[in-house]
Amino acid sequence: VTALPSGWRRIAHATLDSTNAALKRLVAAGEDLREGIVVTAETQTAGRGRQGRAWISPPGNLYASFLIAAPDRPGAAPEIGFVAALAVTDAFAAPGLRLTCKWPNDVLAHGAKVCGILPELDGAWIVLGIGVNLRPTAAAAEYPATSLAERGLAVAPDDALVAIAAALAVRLRQWRSEGFAAIALAWSAAGPVEGESLSVRIPGAPGGTVAGAFAGLDATGALLLDTAAGRRRILAGEVLFAPALDHAGVG
Ligand code: BTN
Repeated sequence: VTALPSGWRRIAHATLDSTNAALKRLVAAGEDLREGIVVTAETQTAGRGRQGRAWISPPGNLYASFLIAAPDRPGAAPEIGFVAALAVTDAFAAPGLRLTCKWPNDVLAHGAKVCGILPELDGAWIVLGIGVNLRPTAAAAEYPATSLAERGLAVAPDDALVAIAAALAVRLRQWRSEGFAAIALAWSAAGPVEGESLSVRIPGAPGGTVAGAFAGLDATGALLLDTAAGRRRILAGEVLFAPALDHAGVG
C-alpha cells in the first residue's frame, strides 16, 4: 500500500506537543470532522503514554493519532484499543518477526514493547494515538522495549503510517460488521496463552499487583485472571513483563 484509505486525510507536522492533544484540539474546534483524519508528527515534545506516563518521542519513529467514530454501544469505546493493536500486528506481519499483543493495548516484538496505543474518548469521537518504535533508541524504559529495526524490519515512518492505516480500515470494518467477539478472538490468537501466569499492576489496589493464570478476555475486553482467591475481572491495569522476558525475550 502506498496511500491512505480513500477518504482518509493526513495532517502532518514536524513537531507537536502530542498528536493526541493536537487532534483533540481539532475536535474541540469542530470543523470538518470525519473518520480517518490522522495527525502525525516527526517528534513530540510532550508525548503521552497510558496512565499519565510520558512517551519519549525522538525523530524516526511513528507518532500518529487517528480520528475514529465512537461506537454507539455504551461502554464499547475501549474495544478500539484491541482493534488497533491487531491492526499494528497485521501491518508489520513479516517472516521471522514475532509480534504479539499484551493486554490491554501493547504490541510486542519478540517479547519487548514495540508499540503503544492510547485511545481517548472525546464525545462522539475516539482519538486513537499509536506510537511505533521504528528505530533503536537509548531511552531507558522501565520495561523491555525494542524497535522494528532491531528486529530486522526497516520501515520509514510514512510507510508505517500507510501500512497501519490500511490494516486499521480492515479491522474497523470487521469490528463493525462482526462485532467485538471477532476482534477478541483474533487478539487472543496473538495474545497470551490461556493458563499463562501473569502479574497485573492495578492502579490504587492494595498491594499494587495481582497474580494469576490468564483466563482470556471477557465480552468487553476485560482481562480474566484466575487467582488464589478466585476469578478476577480486571478492567484497568497493566500486565507486568515476566522477569524471564527481560533476558530471553529481548536477546
Ligand atoms: C502507552 O503508554 O503504551 C501508550 C503510548 C501512546 C503513544 C502515542 S504516540 C502518538 C500518540 N500521541 C501521544 O501523545 N501518544 C500517542
